[in-house]
Amino acid sequence: MKQFTGVLFLCTILLFSVVGNADSGMISDLCNHSGDPKLCISSIESRPESGEFAGTTKQIEIIAISAASANASATSAYIKEKLSREDLEPATEATLEDCQKNYQDAAEQLDDSISAMLADAHTDVDVWLRAAISAIESCGSALDSRAGNDEELSQRNTIFLKLCKNALMVNKKLT
Ligand SMILES: *[C@@H]1O[C@H](CO)[C@@H](O)[C@H](O)[C@H]1NC(C)=O
Ligand SMILES: *[C@@H]1O[C@H](CO)[C@@H](O)[C@H](O)[C@H]1NC(C)=O
Repeated sequence: MKQFTGVLFLCTILLFSVVGNADSGMISDLCNHSGDPKLCISSIESRPESGEFAGTTKQIEIIAISAASANASATSAYIKEKLSREDLEPATEATLEDCQKNYQDAAEQLDDSISAMLADAHTDVDVWLRAAISAIESCGSALDSRAGNDEELSQRNTIFLKLCKNALMVNKKLT
């Protein structure tokens, strides 16, 4: 049984990589319009659903939004962990709490944008993605303007914003 599972796993990987190769042209064509094509391609191709699923622009868009959503969840966990430390300055704590809320909002807005994608409501997708961008820009302003600057969180914000902008760009192609 174990061996069978291993073989099945291997076949699945092979199948995914074949299908993935077949579609990588489409991903790079789309990502060529991104402000950061390399990040765009790697963020989409590294998603587990990419090979099997990335056959159409619509599917690639859903993967692009999922990549942003996974990034938001990881950053929420990062902030949560930092907030659990006891030696935080009050100003740092306040900034992290704001950012935590901003990431929760952004994650919900990305969920809404996926629902809108599934309904082919591309104008709504645009609205939700922009709302997520604006939430994380608020976190960025809090980081810049208050004590408690956090270099890693700033970098995470930058990547998250790029991922959302890539998703916006792909959504435009569908509109
Ligand atoms: C990407 O864009 C450049 C111009 O910005 C163009 O020369 C190139 O052919 C494009 N590549 C693809 C794969 O579309
Ligand atoms: C967030 O996105 C970046 C760029 O694709 C990637 O390097 C990083 O691993 C992602 N983190 C998570 C947890 O998805």
